[in-house]
Amino acid sequence: MKKAKVIYDKEFVIGQIDKRIYGSFLEHMGRAIYTGIYEPDHPQADEMGFRKDVLELVRKLNVPIVRYPGGNFVSGYNWEDGVGPKEKRPRRLELAWRAIETNEVGINEFVEWAKRANTSVMMTVNLGTRGIDAARNLVEYCNFPGGTYYSDLRRQHGYEQPHNIKVWCLGNEMDGDWQIGHKTAYEYGRLAREAAKVMKWVDPSIELVAAGSSGPKMPTFPEWEAIVLDHTYDLVDYVSLHVYYGNPEKDTKNFVAKSLEMEEFIKTVISTIDYVKAKKRSKKVVNISFDEWNVWYHAHLEGKDEKAQPWARIRAIAEEDYVFEDAILVGCMLIALLKHCDRVRIACMAQLVNVIAPITTVKGGIAYRQVIYYPFMHAANYGHGVALLPKVNSPKYDSKDFTDVPYIETVATYNEEKGEITVFAVNRDLEEEMQVEFKLDGFEGFEVVEHIVYESDDIYKGNTQDKPDNAVPHKGGSSKIEGNILTSILPKFSWNVIRLKKREN
Ligand code: AHR
Repeated sequence: MKKAKVIYDKEFVIGQIDKRIYGSFLEHMGRAIYTGIYEPDHPQADEMGFRKDVLELVRKLNVPIVRYPGGNFVSGYNWEDGVGPKEKRPRRLELAWRAIETNEVGINEFVEWAKRANTSVMMTVNLGTRGIDAARNLVEYCNFPGGTYYSDLRRQHGYEQPHNIKVWCLGNEMDGDWQIGHKTAYEYGRLAREAAKVMKWVDPSIELVAAGSSGPKMPTFPEWEAIVLDHTYDLVDYVSLHVYYGNPEKDTKNFVAKSLEMEEFIKTVISTIDYVKAKKRSKKVVNISFDEWNVWYHAHLEGKDEKAQPWARIRAIAEEDYVFEDAILVGCMLIALLKHCDRVRIACMAQLVNVIAPITTVKGGIAYRQVIYYPFMHAANYGHGVALLPKVNSPKYDSKDFTDVPYIETVATYNEEKGEITVFAVNRDLEEEMQVEFKLDGFEGFEVVEHIVYESDDIYKGNTQDKPDNAVPHKGGSSKIEGNILTSILPKFSWNVIRLKKREN
């Protein structure tokens, strides 16, 4: 059996985990909203048309913030279309995903949905076809108490109290030529600055996210971040990162190492932010909002060109049928985010329902969990407090794009208030289980509460409408603690959650 050693020390804290690192994303895209969260004639629909079965699965995920309404969609969106009496709302040609948008769900409905889902809204403004005026009006509509045109409009629409939306994204992926209103870094930087300025004048308490690169492979990365931040540094609080990984070549060893690239991406953006900080002689720290991340490629393999599809009111797009190996990479990506939680304050798994999502719905039928649901649920429920720096001594392997990939990927969180430690650990080894000795320096008197294991006899196993519980985690993993040495067996190719609690005296 292979062996590894990991040292955690109570004093070696990476940072306080902002719970918004477990955020998610819902876009007007495919069946995310319509027949996803909203299906008025579904037997489980509530009085507003929201599916209660979906709400229940979202609440169990413990998602603290959900980005809305896009995504590429937002760059052609008129927010005014989605407020006021539903029968008066226009039907529009939605150009990003080639849909007919009825605007049955708009900002107020989404705020209502978020309340029911026990979450909060992260709003994106359109800096593609629109700009400063629409953005500042939307902040006024949502956050100003009353006595002005837009705040009173909200009240007329039945929302007496302001929505108090705290986090706002300044457009989406403006570096990509697929984006409606694509811009150069200079053009976007100027517009983002001016929009940010007036949005904060309307409500100084909001936090703003500047749109960073759509991915580390973009030719403009990281010059884009440097130029955009040069314009916006004093006004924004976060810069966004997006990344999706796939495994079309079926090279699993290489695929599950891609979280290392994600970490490099984070480190490069931190360096770029800090370069601009130094250039500006600023004391302010801008942080990261990793507001789109996930595995996405199964649906691409269908080879459909979305722009060549007929116009449709509701069409399935990017409905990934995830398989077990995807859950392992998602676990590694969650660990990567936690390992940088001192700067990654917000992150959104993209997306939440139907579209590249942990939850799938059947129109008129059930809602079920994809395999990627589970590692996210574990992290969002148990990964709180501070993250501890892992010192890992693990056997390693080489793959097509990576050298020295540690078989063991891990991070631990310590919740002092609750007296709880959670060790998250992935064994990337496809062949062998691994014995890992975790030395927990500075932690005395802890006992193992449970060791949850997510493993599979088939790396291509997934959950389906007919077999919604085909691949589920189980308890009863092998972990024991003596003094401050925790010894665990991590089964081959598995995600592990080892929960410890301080013994009561
Ligand atoms: O999440 C799906 C799409 O991916 C989003 O609309 C866009 O921002 C990204 O390219």
